Amino acid sequence: MSSTLALIFIGVAVLFILGIKFLSSPRTARYGNLLAAAGMLVAFFATIPLMQLHEWNLNCTLIVVGILIGLVMGAVGAYSVKMTAMPQMVAAFNGLGGGSAALVASLEFLRRSHSLEGVTVSAAVPMLFATLIGSLSFSGSIIAFLKLEGKFEKPHTFPGQNFLNGVVFLVILGLCGYLIGGETTNSTAFIVMFALALAFGIAMVMPIGGADMPVVISLLNSFTGLAVAGDGFVINNLSMIVAGTLVGSSGTLLTLLMCKAMNRPVTNVLFGAFGSGGGGQAAAAGVAGTVKPIQADEAALLLAYAQRVVVVPGYGMAVAQAQHQVRELSDELGKRGVEVQFAIHPVAGRMPGHMNVLLAEANVPYDQLCEMEAINPSMDRVDVCLVIGANDVVNPAAREEKGSPIYGMPIIEADHAKTVIVMKRSMAKGFAGIENHLFYKDNTRMLFGDAKASLNALIAAVKAS
Ligand code: TAP
Repeated sequence: MSSTLALIFIGVAVLFILGIKFLSSPRTARYGNLLAAAGMLVAFFATIPLMQLHEWNLNCTLIVVGILIGLVMGAVGAYSVKMTAMPQMVAAFNGLGGGSAALVASLEFLRRSHSLEGVTVSAAVPMLFATLIGSLSFSGSIIAFLKLEGKFEKPHTFPGQNFLNGVVFLVILGLCGYLIGGETTNSTAFIVMFALALAFGIAMVMPIGGADMPVVISLLNSFTGLAVAGDGFVINNLSMIVAGTLVGSSGTLLTLLMCKAMNRPVTNVLFGAFGSGGGGQAAAAGVAGTVKPIQADEAALLLAYAQRVVVVPGYGMAVAQAQHQVRELSDELGKRGVEVQFAIHPVAGRMPGHMNVLLAEANVPYDQLCEMEAINPSMDRVDVCLVIGANDVVNPAAREEKGSPIYGMPIIEADHAKTVIVMKRSMAKGFAGIENHLFYKDNTRMLFGDAKASLNALIAAVKAS
C-alpha cells in the first residue's frame, strides 16, 4: 500500500473511533453518526486506487450498481423505519454485513486455493474465521429479524437441542481444521462448512425468545464486526480491521452491559428460553394488597399540586407512541412550577437507549433525563412518580424476592415515592412474565388505558385544574 493510502486509512480509522466516541452522548450522537459515515465514504473511495495498486479486476459498473443499491436500501430503510421497528432494521443490516463479510472471505479462499498462489495456514485462518462467523451472523440475524417481526410465535425448542448444536459446531470446526491442514483445497468440504455455518446460525437463534432478540442482535453485531476484521486481514485492508474490531468490541460490551442490567448471564440469554413472551415464567406469588384504580382528573390534581414529579417511561410508552404527549404533560406541569424529571432505566423498552431516543424525538430537554443510579437516592423525596408503560424496571421483586427471575436486577425505586401512578392497559405482566408487587402497594394508583389516551386525558385535566 502506498504511504498516502496508508495515511488515508489511518484517518478513516480515526473518524470511526471519533464517531463511536460521539455516539456515547445524545447531544453529540448525530455528529458521531455523520463522522463515521464520512469515514466509510472516504474508505470506499480509497479502496478503488488500492484495487488498482493490486492490479485486481475493476468492474466499475458493478461497483456503481452496488453502491446505488446500498444507498437506496439504506436511505429508504432509515427514513421509513418506525422507532419501534429499529431492532429489526439493525438485525437486517447486520445480517447483510455478516453475509458480505462471509462472501468476501470465501471468494478469496476459493480464488487463492485454485490459483498457483495457494492458501497458507496464516491466510486460511482469518479466511475461514470470517466465513464461519459472517455466515452464522447472516442467517442468525435473518431469524432474529423474523422473530422481531412476530413471524415465529414461540421459541422452537426440543430436548437435546443444545447438544445437537454443539455437535454441529464441532463438525464445522473439524472441517475448518481439515481445510487449514490440507495440502490441496477441497471445495466440497468448504461448501459443506459454509452451509453448516448458515444452518448453525439458524439453530442458534431459533430457540431464543423473541423478546431476548435485542441482546442476540447485539451479539450477532459483534460477530459481524469480527468477521469484517477477519476480512481486513485477508485482503490486507487496515480500515476493515479497525472498523471490524470496533464493532466487535463495542457489540460485545453492549451485550454484556445489557445482560448486566437484566441481571442475567449471557449464557442464560443464549441457552435459556427466558423472554419467550412470558408464558413459562414464575406465576404470581401470593400478592399482598389491593389494586386501587384512579381516574385521570384525580391523577391530574395530584400531579398539578406536586412539587416534584418523576416520570418513568417503559416499553408501553413506545408501543403507544406517547412520547409527544409525555413532553406536553411535562411542559404543562413545568408552567405550574412543578419540577419534572425523567428516570431512565438502562433496559427500559426493547433496545439500548430506547427511551432516550423516543424522548429526544419529542424534544424533551436532555437535562431533564436522569440515569437510574442518579435518581434512586432521591426517590423518597418525590411527590408523584408517574410510571408510563413500565413494568419490570420498577418491580420491587428485583430487590425483595430472592426466588424471583429478576432478583438482583437494578430497578428504579418508584415505590419509594410518596404516590405512584402507574399507567397501563390492564394487569398484564411485562417482558419477564412476573407479577409486579408495586401495583398492589398502598401508595400506588393504577390509571388504566392506552398510555397515549390516558396522557391526553391527563393533559386536558391539568389544563383545566
Ligand atoms: P415491560 O416490563 O415489558 O412492561 C411493559 C408494560 O407496558 C406492560 O406491562 C404493558 O402492560 C404496558 N403496555 C403495553 N402497551 C401499552 C400501551 N399501549 N399503553 C400503556 N401501557 C402499555 O417494560 P419495561 O418496564 O420497559 O421493561 C423492559 C423489559 O424488557 C425488561 O424486563 C428488560 O430486561 C427487557 N429487555 C430490554 C431490552 C433493552 S436493551 N431495553 C432488551 C431485551 C429485553 P399492559 O399490557 O397491561 O398495557
